[in-house]
Amino acid sequence: MSIRSTLTIVLAAGEGTRMRSSLPKVLHPVAGRPLVAHVLAAAPDGANDSVAVVVGPDHQPVVDEIARVRPGTKTYVQRERLGTAHAVLAAREAIEAGADDILIAFGDTPLINADTFTRLRAALKDGAALAVLGFRAADPTGYGRLLVEKDQLVAIREQADASEAERAVTLCNAGVMAFAGKAALKILDRIGNGNSKGEYYLTDAVAIVHELGLRAAVIETDEDEVRGINTKAQLAEAEQVMQRRLRQAALDAGVTLIAPETVFLSADTIFGKDVTIEPFVVIGVGVAIEDGAVIHSFSNIVGARIGKNASIGPYARLRPGTVLGEGVRIGNFVETKAADLETGVKVNHLTYIGDTHIGANANIGAGTITCNYDGFDKHRTEIGAGAFVGSNSSLVAPVKIGAGAYVGSGSVISKDVPDDALVVERSPVSLREGWARRFREMKMLNRKPKGPK
Ligand code: UD1
Ligand code: MG
Repeated sequence: MSIRSTLTIVLAAGEGTRMRSSLPKVLHPVAGRPLVAHVLAAAPDGANDSVAVVVGPDHQPVVDEIARVRPGTKTYVQRERLGTAHAVLAAREAIEAGADDILIAFGDTPLINADTFTRLRAALKDGAALAVLGFRAADPTGYGRLLVEKDQLVAIREQADASEAERAVTLCNAGVMAFAGKAALKILDRIGNGNSKGEYYLTDAVAIVHELGLRAAVIETDEDEVRGINTKAQLAEAEQVMQRRLRQAALDAGVTLIAPETVFLSADTIFGKDVTIEPFVVIGVGVAIEDGAVIHSFSNIVGARIGKNASIGPYARLRPGTVLGEGVRIGNFVETKAADLETGVKVNHLTYIGDTHIGANANIGAGTITCNYDGFDKHRTEIGAGAFVGSNSSLVAPVKIGAGAYVGSGSVISKDVPDDALVVERSPVSLREGWARRFREMKMLNRKPKGPK
């Protein structure tokens, strides 16, 4: 059996002005991933699959993001916004290149599942020339209505052109469609703009399919999956739906979430086995947590790899470039950035580790700061395996602490320390026996008796 090829066309030329943002609408993130990247992630991605995205003019940031998340994706510019069918035909060259199945999706509908594309394609395989994704809308206002006669989808009517009776229909067009590749251009080229808005409506494809004596099918899905984002409020709703899905997927994969609703994940978070995440943890993009690691409450983690059986937080902040080996312990109020900590390193309290490599089993005392910035440049700190850095030490980078070396508490270290050495940097102690008692006695003698005010 030969594998059917696909072309997915994502329409993203919308303006999105209701987001009230300088960021293009489809670049707004849900679970740390831009809307359009979610759609690209759901599109078929085999050797016979390709993707085309239709963008508006001046959408270079969108083009750049697409190239980053799915290299090889072609982008096409729709110069004038003349409707959804017009937008699809901006990718005419990609359609002409030929694919068995041509899928259409909107770039602002991030909750779409890969599985839904599979269901639409199955309808094509069963002989339909067009498969349309439908849903039962709680409030159908504004959506195209799916008009079904005798089990046959005969037309989609846009809100503006619908009769009273048609407006009462709650089965709506989600916007996602699949065309049989062979028939696609023949159908799309027949779409005109003779409607109340003067736009080329992709939805007119259904009536054309019917006229050509071909068949159009409806595949139904949940309204949640096809929420389109036009406002920040809708973006926040989509975030909630996505977070619920990510938490469920994590639980299904065996992650222990004590209070799932308080944990925020990213679309790309990777978990090993037997990971535990305590309540109130935020995990940003680019995080992998290996087997047996525990993330304690109120930790914030971005761009970090956490090794097996590591323990993080509570109240830890791991920033991009953090790589923690097996059994590493990061305690409360510790911040790391571009920090490579090997097996068994302990950084238990109130510390900043930035631009640093720490060898295995080193112990970093409370309040240690790697002073990595001189106001102009960042500099590196190297701490050898088994080193012991006493509490409240400042390591002024660039600097090296040798393997097995001891740094006395409270030191400011700006010169390299050899392996196994002790380094202490403190002022001489000034100690005066009995001074405090004498001081108090003198103060008491000089005190004026308390009189009336
Ligand atoms: C569209 C559907 C409607 C469906 C609804 C689902 C049509 C005619 N109508 O209506 O049946 O119920 O989506 O949300 O298809 N776009 C372009 N270029 C254009 C016009 C649109 O790229 O010239 C893109 C937009 O960026 C957006 C998508 O196509 O991603 C849908 O356009 P939009 O204007 O939101 O269509 P709706 O009126 O919502
Ligand atoms: Mg819309």
